[in-house]
Amino acid sequence: MNLSNNKILITGGASGIGLGLTERFIKEGNTVIICGRRESVLKEVAGKHPGVITRACDLSDEKERIALFKWVSDHHSDLDVLVNNAGIQQWMAITDADFFQRAKQEIITNIEAPLHLMSLFANLKSLKTILNVTSGLSFVPLTKVPVYSATKAFFHSFTLSARALLKSKNIEVIELIPPALNTDLGGKGLHDAAPPVSDFIESVFQQLKDGKTEITFGFSESMAKASQDDLKNAFNRMNPA
Ligand SMILES: NC(=O)c1ccc[n+]([C@@H]2O[C@H](COP(=O)([O-])OP(=O)(O)OC[C@H]3O[C@@H](n4cnc5c(N)ncnc54)[C@H](OP(=O)(O)O)[C@@H]3O)[C@@H](O)[C@H]2O)c1
Repeated sequence: MNLSNNKILITGGASGIGLGLTERFIKEGNTVIICGRRESVLKEVAGKHPGVITRACDLSDEKERIALFKWVSDHHSDLDVLVNNAGIQQWMAITDADFFQRAKQEIITNIEAPLHLMSLFANLKSLKTILNVTSGLSFVPLTKVPVYSATKAFFHSFTLSARALLKSKNIEVIELIPPALNTDLGGKGLHDAAPPVSDFIESVFQQLKDGKTEITFGFSESMAKASQDDLKNAFNRMNPA
């Protein structure tokens, strides 16, 4: 992927990993469009980085995804890169009264939305790259977040197929596989003990410069390379009975 002079749409680009990507892509000389549900957070980022273009939208709503694509087609038909970063993570148990409703919301946000965006944006003539954010939990689930882990395994698998399927359209598909990082994912405080986003972003850009298309870091690097036995051991360590 060419790292400068692109126009890049980053879903969830106003916080956490998305914000780290936004700030670094700006530094590398790109124009960045960010979207998310919270207009105030989008405005805060645009206030700090005046070149940033913002669009409030709820990606769990199919009509809003279509409206986002239409807006980009009408106003930014030179978009080079789509970053599917937005996601939610929910602690839950299968016996919770609201399990199914919350599971559906997670599946819509983490699977349905990015798949729909990929199918829409792959038809934009200018599009060169799609960057999907999965997780180290794509390889080994954390049972406290059972649906989240499964959505990331799905998205990892789909990303492998998409990379092969979109070759004929000259669209490169890159997977970003973060380990646990200190963001507000799942709620404030839950990831406080994890490493900072800045270390991960530094490594991401080095790996992008090196031409890697599967970008791992720390835990996700070891899980991506793990044997079946290593994965079983990791599962038992992460999910004590
Ligand atoms: N932090 C970690 O430990 C970790 C590890 C592996 C993978 N990841 C992945 O990294 C990505 C970013 O997460 P993060 O850690 O940076 O957490 P975060 O700060 O909570 O970021 C999630 C972003 O997604 C946006 N978003 C969520 N639902 C949305 C919706 N329905 N419509 C539009 N935007 C929506 C949020 O914005 P609004 O709330 O304003 O909508 C927010 O900006 C996620 O895909 C996550 O699964 C994170």
